[in-house]
Amino acid sequence: MKVDVLLGLQWGDEGKGKIVDVFTPKYDIIARFQGGPNAGHTLEFNGLKHVLHTIPSGIFHEETINLIGNGVIIDLKILQDELQKLIDKGANPSKNLMISKKSHLITPSHRLLDAAYEQSKGKQKIGSTLKGIGPTYTDKIARLGLRMGDIQMKNFKERYEHLKALHFEILKTYSFDISSHKIDGLNFEEYEQKWMEATKIASEIPVIDSEQFINQSLKSGKLILAEGAQGTLLDVDFGSYPFVTSSNTVSAAVCTGLGVAPNKIGRTYGVFKAYCTRVGSGPFPTELFDNSGQLLRDNGHEYGSTTGRPRRCGWLDIPALRYSIMINGVTDLIITKADVMDDFDSIDVCTHYQINEQKLDYMPYEILDDQLKPVLESHKGWRKDIVDLTEINQLPKELMEYIEYIEKAVDCPISVVSVGPDRVQTIIR
Ligand code: GDP
Ligand code: IMO
Ligand code: MG
Repeated sequence: MKVDVLLGLQWGDEGKGKIVDVFTPKYDIIARFQGGPNAGHTLEFNGLKHVLHTIPSGIFHEETINLIGNGVIIDLKILQDELQKLIDKGANPSKNLMISKKSHLITPSHRLLDAAYEQSKGKQKIGSTLKGIGPTYTDKIARLGLRMGDIQMKNFKERYEHLKALHFEILKTYSFDISSHKIDGLNFEEYEQKWMEATKIASEIPVIDSEQFINQSLKSGKLILAEGAQGTLLDVDFGSYPFVTSSNTVSAAVCTGLGVAPNKIGRTYGVFKAYCTRVGSGPFPTELFDNSGQLLRDNGHEYGSTTGRPRRCGWLDIPALRYSIMINGVTDLIITKADVMDDFDSIDVCTHYQINEQKLDYMPYEILDDQLKPVLESHKGWRKDIVDLTEINQLPKELMEYIEYIEKAVDCPISVVSVGPDRVQTIIR
C-alpha cells in the first residue's frame, strides 16, 4: 500500500480541511506531516463549523486513526484547548488520535521569540501567525528542541528551564519587553502554567513511535492519507522566501514528516481555490485592490481561520499553479470556492508574467521584483448559483469551460469540484 497525499497549491487556506474530511471515509489513517497551529482547517457539516489547528481533519470519523506526525510541531496549550473543544462537542479524541514521540514542542518562550523577531523586522515583517513556528523549527535544526516523547522523562522540567533560559538571553538582546507581552491574551507566566498543565496530554493520548506505526499499517494493507498544512507557495525552499513558513509544505515532506520512503507515495491531490488568497506579507502578483478583490473577500469570507486577519485576494495564477503541480508531482487537482464567483460577469486569470519586456510562463526567482507584472486573460462568468448542484453535468457551461481551460493550461485533471463549505457541497468527477 502507498500513502496518498493531499496538500495546498497556493498560499494556504485552499480548503484542505474540508476535502480531507470528505475523503476520510475512504481511509484508515489521516496523518499530518508538517506545520503546527499556524494552520486553521475548517470543516462544516450538520450545520456546525469546526476549526482544527493541530489535529488532523479526519478526527470526526471515529473509525479513522488521526496521527500527528513527527514533522508537526505542537503547542501543548493550543492542543489542549482543541481537544477540549472536541470533547465539548461530544467527540472522544483519546480513541482515535495518536501523536508521534518525535514531534517537537512549541514552548511559551518560542512564542516570545517569534514576536520579538517579527517586531525587529519592522516593515519587512513576515506577517507570522505568531504561533512560535519559526523559532521551534530553528531549535529543531539547531538540535536544541524538546520533543513529545521527552515529556515523560525525568529531566523534562530541567531541560525545559534550560531552553527557556537560552531564549530569555536572546530576548534580552532584542530588548523585548516580556512582562507586557500577551500570548493569546495571557501573560507569559499564565500561559506557561497552562502549557505545563497540558503536558498531561502525554498520558491521555497515545504517544507512539509513529514511523513504525505508519509502516506496519502500510504493510498490513491500511489506507493512509497525509494531510498538508499551509501551501506550496509558503514552502521554506520553494515559496516566496523569506515570506514563507518555516517548514517544507510540499509532498517530499511527507517522507521526512512521517517516516515513509519516497517509493511509498501514491496519489497526490493538490487543492487550489478558483482564485488566490494570501494572508501575511510577501509577493502576490495577481492581488486585487479594487471592488473585485473586495467581492472575493466578502463572498468567500476571506478572513483567517487562525488569526481572523483579512486575506488578500486576487485572480488565479496559472504559472504559480503549474509550478506547485511540478514540485509536488500532483496527480489530481481539486478546485474549491468556484461558488464565490457565482455573480461575477467576468473572471480574469494570469496566463504568464512580464518582467522588463521579458515574457515568463513560470514562477521566477525574481518573484519579489516590483517589475514583475501579471498578464491577464478574461473569461466569461457563469452568473448562476452553484452551491446546491450535486452532479458535474449540472455545472454551468462557462464554469465547465473555466475548469477545462485550467486543466489544459496546467496539464493535470481536476477530479473534485467543491461548491460550498459543507461536506455535502462536493462534486466528485
Ligand atoms: P484550509 O486551511 O486549506 O483547510 O482552509 P481554511 O479552512 O483555512 O479556509 C477555507 C475556507 O473556505 C473555510 O472557511 C471553508 O469552510 C471554506 N470553504 C472550503 N471549500 C469551500 C467551497 O468550495 N466554497 C466555499 N464558499 N467555501 C469553502
Ligand atoms: P493553513 O494550513 C495561510 C502564513 C502566515 C505568514 C507566513 C508565516 O490553514 O492553510 P508562520 O506563522 O508560519 O510563521 O507564518 O505563513 N501562514 C498561513 N497562511 N494558511 C496557513 O495555514 C498558514 N500558515 C502560515 O500568514 O504569512
Ligand atoms: Mg487555513
